[in-house]
Amino acid sequence: MIAHLQAHLSGETKVIRAYDGTISPCVDCRACRRTDGCVINDGMQTVYEYLKTCDNVVIASPIYFSELTGALLNAASRLQTYFSARFFRKETPVLSPKKGAVLLAGGGTGDPERAYTTASELLCYMNVQEIFPLICSHNTDRIPAWEDVRTLEQIRSAADFLNQGK
Ligand SMILES: Cc1cc2nc3c(=O)[nH]c(=O)nc-3n(C[C@H](O)[C@H](O)[C@H](O)COP(=O)(O)O)c2cc1C
Repeated sequence: MIAHLQAHLSGETKVIRAYDGTISPCVDCRACRRTDGCVINDGMQTVYEYLKTCDNVVIASPIYFSELTGALLNAASRLQTYFSARFFRKETPVLSPKKGAVLLAGGGTGDPERAYTTASELLCYMNVQEIFPLICSHNTDRIPAWEDVRTLEQIRSAADFLNQGK
């Protein structure tokens, strides 16, 4: 799904894979309650830099137990620094306003709503101000996402939405 979206996006894109092991989870050390950024020096540092200026953020995940995957939530926990900026340090994080989208794939059980709500909350942390309606291929036990024609059409529409104004 993400490759299909990338193929229709204009401009530079960067894919951050939660499973590649370069981003550790937040350990609630609370350093970001006092100082900007995060003291864990790993792959998330380049993500913070990118988030300062990028125009769009897309969250893509299989649905696990009606949620985003644990690996994605581990990486996303490092967005806590943006919460700390607002709530503890009383600062507004300097992130460009962005548009966003959420791509989910599920075998077909349960409901994608919980995963979508979590993803939307994470997008808000990253200063995403407009979110494209949920795209979910939710029958992958029978039809793989890359053969789900409706989902592929929605991804093209999402690309048009994200390309606007660029
Ligand atoms: C641990 C685990 C939990 C899962 N939980 C759900 C679920 O709650 N709902 C659902 O629809 N699919 C669930 N699935 C199925 C995955 O979402 C599905 O295998 C995935 O979308 C496959 O996508 P792909 O065929 O495009 O790789 C689960 C799969 C695993 C491995």
